[in-house]
Amino acid sequence: MAFDKSTNTVWHHATVTRERRAALNGHRSCVLWFTGLSGSGKSTLAHAVEEELHRAGRRTFVLDGDNVRHGLCGDLGFSVEDRRENIRRIAETTKLMTEAGVITLTAFISPFREDRDRARSLFPHGDFIEIYCAAPLAICESRDVKGLYRRARSGEVKEFTGISSPYEAPLNPELTVASGNLPLEHCVAQVMGLLESRLRWPAASTPIS
Ligand code: ADX
Repeated sequence: MAFDKSTNTVWHHATVTRERRAALNGHRSCVLWFTGLSGSGKSTLAHAVEEELHRAGRRTFVLDGDNVRHGLCGDLGFSVEDRRENIRRIAETTKLMTEAGVITLTAFISPFREDRDRARSLFPHGDFIEIYCAAPLAICESRDVKGLYRRARSGEVKEFTGISSPYEAPLNPELTVASGNLPLEHCVAQVMGLLESRLRWPAASTPIS
């Protein structure tokens, strides 16, 4: 992979650190990593949580599967290898964004445990919050917002998650949300509850240790 080729480079240490950015922002940064089947509500929930955080004055950004695949990952398809590379790039991007002080919400199927665990390993303990959007396949398929399940069943769309490509549910996520049947506001409240209990929001002038 490309990152094996970057020899003869030296890491440059910034004097403006993540901690100093957090102090300026008045809050820590972290990752809310939403995972689940296509149509399970990841993007909807991520954007609704972002809205809430933004209104509360937090710096945020949503990285969304369909959008990122138009640009940064536009060269990747849906094979196991391409999904792995997709998640690797997202994880590295997310790491940069959290270093920049932003609460980053990612909404990718990210179907493989190993890839999600690799993403988690890039972050300090506690900063990677995995949220499983646990909508059952039958519900996602009945919603079929993009018409992709129907096309996957007919064989027109190949390697479709849940139909012809596996989804490995998280074994130990920080939060599981029943996004298949709970109203959106309840799901948002669950995520916000988790955030409030896990994150310390220091005042703008308080340095973070
Ligand atoms: S991931 O598996 O690599 O994490 P990602 O979240 O980026 O997937 O992209 C998923 C989105 O791509 C789905 O919401 C759907 O709109 C679209 N898509 C197109 N083809 C497929 C496919 N074969 N499997 C899953 N999603 C697909």
